[in-house]
Amino acid sequence: MTSNQEVRVLGGSTQSEADRKREMVERLRGSRVADGELLDNIGLYLTRQTLSRINFMQDLYRRIVPVHGVIMEFGVRWGQNLALFSNLRGMHEPYNYNRKIIGFDTFEGFPSVAPEDGDRVQEGDYGVAEAWQEELEDILEFHTQNAPISHKQKHELVKGDATETLPQYLNEHPETIVALAYFDFDLYKPTRDCLEAIIPHLTKGSVLAFDELNTPEFPGETIAVREVLGLAKGAIRRDPNNPLTSFMVIE
Ligand SMILES: C[S@@+](CC[C@H](N)C(=O)[O-])C[C@H]1O[C@@H](n2cnc3c(N)ncnc32)[C@H](O)[C@@H]1O
Repeated sequence: MTSNQEVRVLGGSTQSEADRKREMVERLRGSRVADGELLDNIGLYLTRQTLSRINFMQDLYRRIVPVHGVIMEFGVRWGQNLALFSNLRGMHEPYNYNRKIIGFDTFEGFPSVAPEDGDRVQEGDYGVAEAWQEELEDILEFHTQNAPISHKQKHELVKGDATETLPQYLNEHPETIVALAYFDFDLYKPTRDCLEAIIPHLTKGSVLAFDELNTPEFPGETIAVREVLGLAKGAIRRDPNNPLTSFMVIE
């Protein structure tokens, strides 16, 4: 994937919503707010949907402050959630350098899809710009430097098919406890395999969050959770500000 324009993603917006959003993007790209003040005024351009997502990440983070262990995101894409988690760590537990944040992605979009994923997705969907992983590293490094204990490396991007890279990571890091796992592959097989792989690394209070449960466009994520955990094993709670995101706390 070489340019943003070529990336295939499924969108649920109407044409007028998409047009309004594009207009705001143009305003942001051409903003006359002084460079030195632009990041401080980024709320000018935030949409309700983005603000809702930030609030959800904040809610999840608050739940894991007393839980020992790392944060893993399965399906990073541009990496916004990793940046949010990094900043939330700086706000809620600035001295917890043990709270590593690890993101798994191909950084090349879906490596494959299964029959369980239905017919609306295809291999290569949700790619990113070329060499995005390197740029994301730099962005995450900025956030690390903006918080205490900046000399400690506290994030890691693991590139490749997570059905292979996660078992390898866990082999190399047998000390791993997972406090929060954010599942956003959208797909059946990687969700199933990664969920199975982290179960021995969970503790009471660990949070499993999901971006697409009960979503017709991405049936595979729910099938994976149903097969590995069973839907009745724990309470699947929804985010009151977002129609799709949900979570469960291990009891
Ligand atoms: C919907 S996007 C993630 C969005 C991101 N979490 C966010 O909030 O902006 C899904 C991501 O999952 C990744 N992905 C899907 N299957 C994967 C697999 N088997 N291994 C690694 N990454 C995978 C894709 O490359 C894509 O970046």
